[in-house]
Amino acid sequence: MKNIVILISGSGSNMAAIVRAAEREGWARRFDARIAAVISNKADAAGLAIARAQGIATEVVAHKDFDTREAFDGALARAIDAQAPTLVVLAGFMRILTPAFVAHYEGRLLNIHPSLLPAFPGLRTHQRAIEAGCRVAGLTVHEVTVELDHGPILAQAAVPVMPDDTADTLAARVLAHEHRVYPQAIAAWLARPAPATPA
Ligand code: GAR
Repeated sequence: MKNIVILISGSGSNMAAIVRAAEREGWARRFDARIAAVISNKADAAGLAIARAQGIATEVVAHKDFDTREAFDGALARAIDAQAPTLVVLAGFMRILTPAFVAHYEGRLLNIHPSLLPAFPGLRTHQRAIEAGCRVAGLTVHEVTVELDHGPILAQAAVPVMPDDTADTLAARVLAHEHRVYPQAIAAWLARPAPATPA
């Protein structure tokens, strides 16, 4: 079985969309894959209750309990690795990861970012797109590499920016497409042939 571990920090709507797609599209049968666990760096992340209600194992590794990024990432990696993951999915996980963590999951760590990368890496993407006068905004699913919000792009979707948009209205429009595109990108990743193992 291919275990997928999803990391969240907040409402977990992308995580919920992935769980729904896995169920609806029969990922267990098609890809021998399942959502093994949802892990949050925040105990009060609303998405944890959604995951529990779906019968998915949840765990909290609170970044506040650790003095350094390295110590937090080490504890997080131990919690993830206890699930023997094939794929680790960042879904609104709002922590900058250490190079050692990223290297440990190289090739099996995905992220969704609410902009058309390489435009607007980092935070406040929707406000920055509006201030820049962008006529389109969107989202990017990408493999995580050491440089923040970079890495090979797996999927993107563009949405129009309306003249009266606020950061909130634009975010809501983009989020609706995130819920469609992230599960599709994960399904496509799972459908890829396994990399050849050296003889
Ligand atoms: C999503 O819009 C996601 O793209 C964004 O946080 C939101 C999480 O929503 N991620 C980032 O900004 C990562 N830098 P959700 O918790 O409802 O899925």
